[in-house]
Amino acid sequence: MPLRLNAVLSCDKANKGEGGVCVVGRVRLGFANLTIEFVDRDLALKLIDEWAEKSTFPVQVIYGPEGCGKTAWLLQSIELLKDHGFEVVYVNPINRLAFAEVSINSLREEFFKLVKEAIAQSALARIAWIAYNVVYDVIKATRGKVAVIVDDAFQVIGVKESALYVKALLNLIEYPPEHYEKIVTIAATSEGVSRYEIGRHRWASIRIMWNMPKEGFRQLYEQLPGGKPPFEEVWRITGGNPAMLESLYRVGWSAERVLREIIARKNLHTFTSSLGPGDREVLVRALEDPDALMSREGIPLMNRLIELNLIINVPPWRDEYLWVDQPPPEKDEELGIGKYVAWQSPLHREAVRRVLGMPG
Ligand SMILES: Nc1ncnc2c1ncn2[C@@H]1O[C@H](COP(=O)(O)OP(=O)(O)OP(=O)(O)O)[C@@H](O)[C@H]1O
Ligand SMILES: [Mg+2]
Repeated sequence: MPLRLNAVLSCDKANKGEGGVCVVGRVRLGFANLTIEFVDRDLALKLIDEWAEKSTFPVQVIYGPEGCGKTAWLLQSIELLKDHGFEVVYVNPINRLAFAEVSINSLREEFFKLVKEAIAQSALARIAWIAYNVVYDVIKATRGKVAVIVDDAFQVIGVKESALYVKALLNLIEYPPEHYEKIVTIAATSEGVSRYEIGRHRWASIRIMWNMPKEGFRQLYEQLPGGKPPFEEVWRITGGNPAMLESLYRVGWSAERVLREIIARKNLHTFTSSLGPGDREVLVRALEDPDALMSREGIPLMNRLIELNLIINVPPWRDEYLWVDQPPPEKDEELGIGKYVAWQSPLHREAVRRVLGMPG
């Protein structure tokens, strides 16, 4: 995979968001073989505005279903933070993406040199620390407004070190090398396991980003060219997960192919074959109501489903301050959303249903 350093985020500066939220242009993003415009997520962008005003404390860790749109939002946020006068460092080791929108050329060049070396040596975990070090030096040199965004690094860093990394980011806030004006520190992950490890400490505030709300998702759907199934049907099977939409588009809208991909990628036949009769029975119940997992006999199974990135344990409250962007509904049986537990998308649930041999 090629390294994309400061890949151009092209902006249409004339294009303004609703409600005066996003004053910067909408970035354009890769989507299957297309380039599409960032849409919706107004509340999530408003949150960035708030953080830019107030600074973040403690570190903000964003967790959400795989493919719910964390990276897209963070890429749009780089533009927003730049507009607020921030120096921004962004890394995404898994996607080999690195941006350094910093005013000191020598630091930017050093950063890219080190990131390239780390990639050449397949030392992806090092990239997160390179970002940390450059941000430390930027604070020292500018004493200004600095943002560090670490996207999808926890998988490569590992669970234990992720917690230490978050602690290091908190140290940047609490014990900076120089007094700074503002600081924004964000780390995003779709790994449920690292979320637990991080949540044990006071070092981070964890917020969940859910799949897209219906009207925002419609805007994404409408950008896709060619013949496509009706929107309601696409909504029903994706639950607003943009990566599922991308997968469907890529395979010519064959839900069957996407299902098989999920089953193979997550090795679901092996998983279900390993279940005892009790767990199997709970899993069958969880197809109808994921909250069935929130029970004494269901919790070990729930943890395995979290590890497999099939479900998410969500806070029972839907107050906006706990979420990035719009929370999911309290309960939605059709989409597989419970009060405490939710399937990452209806297709994730369908994949499990299929391997269990249950009728749809
Ligand atoms: N608000 C949006 N506007 C336009 N495109 C979007 C939006 N959100 C997501 N996408 C597109 O949907 C796809 C999946 O989104 P993205 O990669 O941001 O998800 P993610 O949560 O970062 O996934 P992962 O868990 O794999 O890191 C990408 O092609 C992305 O460009
Ligand atoms: Mg991502």
